This record gives sequence, C-alpha cells and structure tokens, in this order.
Amino acid sequence: MTKNEGFSLPRHVAVIMDGNGRWAQRRLLPRQAGHRAGLTAVRRLIEGCVQRGIGALTLFAFSSENWQRPQGEVGSLMGLFVNALESEVAELHKNRVCIRFIGARAQFSAALQQGMRASEQLTAGNDGLVLNIAAGYGGRWDLVQAARHLATEAVDGRLRVEELDEQQVSNSLALAGLPDPDLFIRTGGEQRISNFLLWNLAYTELYFTELLWPDFDAAALQAALSWFAQRQRRFGRTPEQTRDAGHA
Ligand code: IPE
Ligand code: IPE
Ligand code: MG
Repeated sequence: MTKNEGFSLPRHVAVIMDGNGRWAQRRLLPRQAGHRAGLTAVRRLIEGCVQRGIGALTLFAFSSENWQRPQGEVGSLMGLFVNALESEVAELHKNRVCIRFIGARAQFSAALQQGMRASEQLTAGNDGLVLNIAAGYGGRWDLVQAARHLATEAVDGRLRVEELDEQQVSNSLALAGLPDPDLFIRTGGEQRISNFLLWNLAYTELYFTELLWPDFDAAALQAALSWFAQRQRRFGRTPEQTRDAGHA
C-alpha cells in the first residue's frame, strides 16, 4: 500500500450490494442462487476491511422497500439471513467484529429478531470492525425515527426546540456515534441511493461500479479504495485551502 493510500483509508465504508438477481439470471439460475453467492462476497469484503483496519462497514442487506418483492423471494432471503446468522457470527466474533443491526425489526420473524439481538449482545464488547447490517432499513424511516425521538424529548421537557442542532439529529439516527461514511460503494451499475443513509451520506464520496455484487472481490475492493485515495475532499472549501490543511 502506498503512503497516500494509507493516509486516505476511509474510516467508514457504506455499501449497496446490488446485482445478485442479475448475476443469477445470467447463469440461468434462480435469483436465490445470486443471493447465496452474494453472501460469499460479503465474507470477502468484511475480511478485506478487517485486514486493513477500517473502523466501520455498513451493508445494505434488505431495504424497507424490498418487503414488496414476491413472497417467495422474501421468504428465501429470510431463510438465508437465518442461516447466515447461525454460520457467520462465531467467526466474526473471533475476529473482534462488533455486529449491529439497523432498521425496523418488528416485521422480521421472532427467530430472526432473536438472532439479531443475540449476535449484538455477543459481540457488543468487541473493539474491531463495527459492522452495521441494514435490514428493513430505509433512510426516511431513520429520519422519522429520529424526529419521533426528538419530538418526545421536547414534549417531555428534556430538549429545548430552539437549541436543536445537527449533532442532536445525528445522535438520534441509527448510526449515532459513528463517523459518517467516507466512501459509499454501489455495485450493479445503478447510480442511485435507493433510500439508504440519506442524512449520513451528505459528504460521502460516491463510487459506482458495473460489477454485480457476487463478483465484487478483493481486487474490486482495492480498486474502490484506490479511487477513494485519489479524491480531494473539500467540504465546501477551495482546493487551495484543502491542500494547505493537508487533506489533499
Ligand atoms: C441486491 O440484489 C440484494 C437485495 C436487494 C436483497 P438484487 O436482488 O436487487 O439484484 P438485482 O438488482 O435484481 O440484480
Ligand atoms: C437496494 O437494492 C437495496 C439493497 C441492496 C438491499 P434494490 O435492488 O432494492 O434497489 P432499487 O430498487 O433497484 O433501487
Ligand atoms: Mg437490485
């Protein structure tokens, strides 16, 4: 790794893992086979992040809109999630990964909700990669949750409305306490956010690749990280100011 890449490693990476269905269709396989292959790519990505010492990884596994897919596909995805929870958590725990789920949980089966809680409790004390799995997640849902929480605080007299600031909104969102993603990756060729982290992506570098999610391998991760290392993040300042501050 060059010095520049080391310096510019993202602290937090957010990924829309898209293209499983097309990957399967191209092989004349059922969409479910694509989702299964996608799990292998998830394992690879987590390994790549752990090896590099990246602080946080947020994966879009199932959106609030994905509930509208055909019952059969939703059912098989749920089966895959249950199996993945059983098969992956021990290894993640061994690697000191701290697992968290973000999203509306109530719609998931009792068994899945229990699996989510158990893996969070088991890994809560881990000091390695923070792995956020967005399941039943929507960026608008997240903002509504935050608004509800803040409104309750105000009604109960714990928050003065005129003192509400951006930090308090951030602290009320699902990713409270984590730095915003530095790098966003979407596979599958679409260039849209699809109701992912609407607030947190305000200044994130957006990387889109035509690769379908199951094909996202170690080289693809390195390509995304190298692209990120070349970005000059200005946060509204001029290029000169940014260079002087040593962020170039
Ligand atoms: C992403 O792959 C996985 C989920 C949304 C659960 P898709 O299933 O959206 O795959 P494509 O976009 O149809 O190829
Ligand atoms: C986004 O993918 C959600 C996940 C990857 C979990 P979709 O395939 O659902 O996105 P759209 O509907 O094509 O935008
Ligand atoms: Mg898709």
